[in-house]
Formats: sequence, structure tokens, C-alpha cells
Amino acid sequence: MATMLRDALEANLAGRSDADGLIEVIEAIAEGASRVDALTRRAALADVLGDTGETNVQGEIVQRLDAAGTDTFVEVLSECGRVAALACEELEDAVFVSDAPSHPYLALFDPVDGSSNIDVAVTIGSIFAIYKRADDSPVSEQTLLRPGREQIAAVYVVYGSSTVLVTATERRVDGFTLDPDSGAFLHSHPDITIPAKCAAYSVNEGNAGAWQPEMQAAVAELREAYGLRYVGSLVADFHRDLLKGGIFLYPGDRSSPAGKLRLGYEANPLCYVAEQAGGAGSDGRQRILDLTPEQLHQRTPLIVGNADVVQSVLQRLSAG
Ligand code: AHG
Ligand code: MN
Ligand code: MN
Repeated sequence: MATMLRDALEANLAGRSDADGLIEVIEAIAEGASRVDALTRRAALADVLGDTGETNVQGEIVQRLDAAGTDTFVEVLSECGRVAALACEELEDAVFVSDAPSHPYLALFDPVDGSSNIDVAVTIGSIFAIYKRADDSPVSEQTLLRPGREQIAAVYVVYGSSTVLVTATERRVDGFTLDPDSGAFLHSHPDITIPAKCAAYSVNEGNAGAWQPEMQAAVAELREAYGLRYVGSLVADFHRDLLKGGIFLYPGDRSSPAGKLRLGYEANPLCYVAEQAGGAGSDGRQRILDLTPEQLHQRTPLIVGNADVVQSVLQRLSAG
């Protein structure tokens, strides 16, 4: 019988004195993910397709499932009794829950990643960065602007041909598959490490003409060496690369030098997962996890996957 989420996390966190309550936060995410999964599977039948007609702080049209996912995860994270504050891709400002010392965690999240794929029944995901408050001082937006290396955990969910919740804590990555019959996330992928061999590169080749020349040269080398896989949902592309080996890139370009993906709730959590599994994540110049965020929704170029291949891209970029 596969291990339940709580049992596996208790084993992973055994002996740690700094993670009290962390399991409750991850279990809240799992509860929210099972609700989003149910909506995703019913989609048109649950009347969650299409957009809300609203535009979010990113300047993107908010899909109805984005809004439902936001409400779901804000609710479960606020109610778990362990989260002091949270930030969400779809909300311009942070949500402050409680300054009490009993609420030592902070969460930044992308409730539905890959929104352009919702209406065409292609894999989407949810992504969470989790931090421990540094002290008991009142929380503010500044409290949420932490370098990714200070995460205590990162979680993502991929709603694909199966629904898999992946947790990363210090030097440990595990996958849990949603059992549709019981509604439980069962321990299906113990101790994930990225395979030594890179199996594919993953980038939107349609943007190639807008990249800087050195990025065009670096991707040309990847094109020569690997097959291309690109779903258009970061979590789906990342999860494939984590399990099979690979490199994902979303570079900046002339019109948007910082690229499209957000540091706080896309690049930081996934680079944290990648590093715990033996991979690497960079913005093209430096380690993503060393970047100090200046505002909640700031964007960053992202190169993440097999450490040796990330390194070879960085060398090509610095060669100019
Ligand atoms: P989100 O739906 O949360 O805004 O994220 C979409 C992101 C990411 O999932 C994916 O890697 C990227 O958009 C794809 O962008 P392009 O369609 O420009 O390739
Ligand atoms: Mn996203
Ligand atoms: Mn999103």
C-alpha cells in the first residue's frame, strides 16, 4: 500500500526542529489541489472554461479557472492556521492572514500555471514557494520578498494524464499521485533525482528571432544536440525534464529583457525543486535562488534543468 502524503513528509522531516506545522501547509495545498483537479477534469461541465473578462496585474486576461484556483488556494492556505501571509500571481497585493507566532509560514503561489492551455484540455499546474518567517515581527509585503535559497519547501502540482503533487524540502524531492478512488495523494515517486542524461530542450522556438544573438547561438547548440519538447505549461515542461532529464528556457528578449516568468512563484520554487534533485537554475547570469526580489510580481529569464547543460548554456552566453 503506497504511503500517504503525511506519513512520507513526517519521515522526510523527522528530527527537524524548524519545520513544525509545515506538513499542515503542504496538506492544505494538497486539499486545494484536489479541488482544482476536480474542476479541471470537469472543465466545460463545471462551467469554468473561458475568461473572466478581467485583466490581472500581469496585464493578462484572467481565465475563470485562474480565479477559481486563486479563491481555492487563498482559502485553504488562510484556514490551515500556519500561514501568516501569502502572495498570488492573480492578486496585485499580498494577503495578510495573521501575525501570530503560531503562523510561521509564508507562501507565494501561481494557482494555475499554463492558463492558455485550459480551454484546449492540455496539462496545467500549480506552483508554491514556502518560507519560514525570520522572526515574529509583523508581516508586510517586504516580508515576502525573500531570496529563493531561503525557501523551506517548494511544491508543485501537475494536472496531466495523472495528477501528481511534488514536494521539495532540503535535499529531498518526492512525488505523490492523486488516487481518484480515494481522493488521497499516494507516494508514487520516492526520492526523485534528475537523470544524468539530458533528454530534450524545451523553449518557445517561435520567439527565437527576438532573443539576443548569444542566446540564439546557445539554443542553436541545444537544437543540434537534443530533441525539442514544449507543452507551453511551465509545470508540465519542468516535470518532464525533472523525471527524464532536460533543460527548459524562457529567455528575455529585446521587448521584454526580463522575460515572461515570475521570480517569486514560478522560477524560485521550481529552481528550488531542481536543486534539491541535483539540477540547477539560472537567469542566464546567476543562480536564480540568489536573486533578491524587489517586488512581488517581478519577472526573470529562466534556464533550469540538468546542471551540466545549464552550465554549458551559461558558458555560451558569457562567451558572447
Ligand atoms: P501562467 O499561465 O501562470 O501565466 O504561466 C504561463 C507561462 C508558463 O506556464 C509557460 O512556460 C509560459 O507561460 C508559456 O509562454 P509562451 O506561450 O509565451 O511560450
Ligand atoms: Mn505560471
Ligand atoms: Mn498562472
